[in-house]
Amino acid sequence: MAEDFIIDQTLSKEEKYQLLIKQLHALIEGEPDVIANLSNVTGAIHQSFGHLWTGIYFVKSSELVLGPYQGPVACTRIALGKGVCGTAFKSKESIIVENVDEFPGHIACSSLSKSEIVVPVFSNNKVHSVLDIDSTSLAAFDNTDKSYLEEIAKLIEDKII
Ligand code: SME
Repeated sequence: MAEDFIIDQTLSKEEKYQLLIKQLHALIEGEPDVIANLSNVTGAIHQSFGHLWTGIYFVKSSELVLGPYQGPVACTRIALGKGVCGTAFKSKESIIVENVDEFPGHIACSSLSKSEIVVPVFSNNKVHSVLDIDSTSLAAFDNTDKSYLEEIAKLIEDKII
């Protein structure tokens, strides 16, 4: 079954996201376990694009706490308001960072990370978690990523959490 989720790397970014979103619906269909579903969602995004790191941080009390992810080991806890993840939590907005060295307070979990996108996931109008993706390339993420990842965040809100 895992082979069904390999995306053709010759597709455009838009085509990859469109296929990925269809696959995500199929992947989570009928499975009620949140951790299992978020593990597969992060795995499918990661595998489709070959990112450095793709994962979820959950909002817990006054911190973000590491959830399901794919990639190198990462910071376990991030204070709300700190780093790109904590800033996205606070602003309730997606953040695209073209060059992590130019983002004040960026938290470097891996020295290989050059650019990043963080998208909040909502539940009852509150930020429930953030979806964080890192790339080894500068400026890897743009408004196309933001728009499709926000659609995936909505899918997580509506169908998973
Ligand atoms: N760079 C993030 C920290 C998490 S890691 O990238 C996995 C940040 O600044 O919040």
